[in-house]
Amino acid sequence: MLSGKNITIGVTGGIAVYKVAQLVSYLAAAGASIRVMMTKSAQEFVTPLTFQTLSGHRVYTDLFERPAGGTVQHIDLAASSDLVILAPATANIIGKIACGIADDLISTVVMAAGCPVIICPAMNVNMYNNRIVQRNLASLRDLGYHFVEPSVGRLACGAEGRGRLADLELIIDRINSILANEGDFKGLSVMVTAGPTVEPVDPVRYLTNKSSGKMGFALAEAAARRGARVILVSGPVVLKPPAGVEVVPVQTAAEMHIAVMERFSSVDVVVMCAAVADYRPKIAATQKIKKHEETLTIELEKNPDILAELGRIKKHQLLVGFAAETEDLEKNAHQKVAAKNLELLVANDVTLPGAGFSTDTNIAKLVFPDGRVISLPKMDKLDLAHRILNEVIALRRAAV
Ligand code: PMT
Repeated sequence: MLSGKNITIGVTGGIAVYKVAQLVSYLAAAGASIRVMMTKSAQEFVTPLTFQTLSGHRVYTDLFERPAGGTVQHIDLAASSDLVILAPATANIIGKIACGIADDLISTVVMAAGCPVIICPAMNVNMYNNRIVQRNLASLRDLGYHFVEPSVGRLACGAEGRGRLADLELIIDRINSILANEGDFKGLSVMVTAGPTVEPVDPVRYLTNKSSGKMGFALAEAAARRGARVILVSGPVVLKPPAGVEVVPVQTAAEMHIAVMERFSSVDVVVMCAAVADYRPKIAATQKIKKHEETLTIELEKNPDILAELGRIKKHQLLVGFAAETEDLEKNAHQKVAAKNLELLVANDVTLPGAGFSTDTNIAKLVFPDGRVISLPKMDKLDLAHRILNEVIALRRAAV
């Protein structure tokens, strides 16, 4: 994966610089061509000679250095990179990039880069939690920058908390998955459903569930970053849609049903992540229901099972379903794969800590119609989204 890849690493000033020396050593040994840029502050921790020795190339420290041949150094570095990594990324460099400031070598290279950029923050826990830093991280995430989040533990300053540079294994995993996935969904149309549906009881009340939309939005983001045309049919959520995605907002299961059916023939892959209400009130009262009686009975009727219908009518489309379970996860998952005629089902036990509704992470089992099951560890929803899409690509290749 890494062999022959041009990776440019921006090293900024933090104690974790010494760990990045190990990263450079690993990437160079794996066959990547590594160019290291260092800020002045980074050079207070480790000298450029360390990185020069490990990478086998001179280290870039000055925006105005004149390279031989009259080329423009930061533009050349940006244009020749398959990937740019900022590690460790300080609050300062994150702030500069988020604000569009390009006043040194690293910030100008990031601004000129057309390739993916991975940011690996590392700093004191209070700095990391600072709302300005969090706002900057959020806006860079929205713009499509990749992040490997810092880990929790004892920090060099003596404090405890989130702020340690992520484990090198996680950074290397992310590098591999980005380089492997770049553009593999180009030419494909993917429809993702996300969030809950809301089923009106009367003008001021409704039945719904705990879905936040995070898992579905992560899938839409991952597919878009990998080059797909993405349609995101979403129930009401408070998330910002990923860049470049067509969003179709819906409220009820009936609306989601119509939105999905209208677009089904034009897509190659459907990922039904939405938590669609199985039942809706048979009659939605036109006026607010008054509390006259001690008990109130609301009669429910079945909503259409959207995914089961897609399973019946599909032609070339590949179908991925989700299953939110609280017991007998695998047994129920195998039944749903067969009953809904799916190529893949992502089953999550929503009672586990760190899994299911509203969390940033999930724990899933990938269940295939041939009975295969892949059990995945707890991971960020975006990482799980990429893992699911890897299987989609593999299934499409196997089908040709
Ligand atoms: O949104 P988050 O907070 O990030 O939470 C993520 C999640 C828990 C919602 C997600 O991981 C998940 O499990 N989604 C599926 C929830 C669900 O409805 O599961 P189910 O087992 O009831 O349904 C099975 C499949 O049929 C699902 O793909 C569902 O979208 C689909 N379905 C269900 C009912 C229905 N009437 N029509 C459907 O198409």
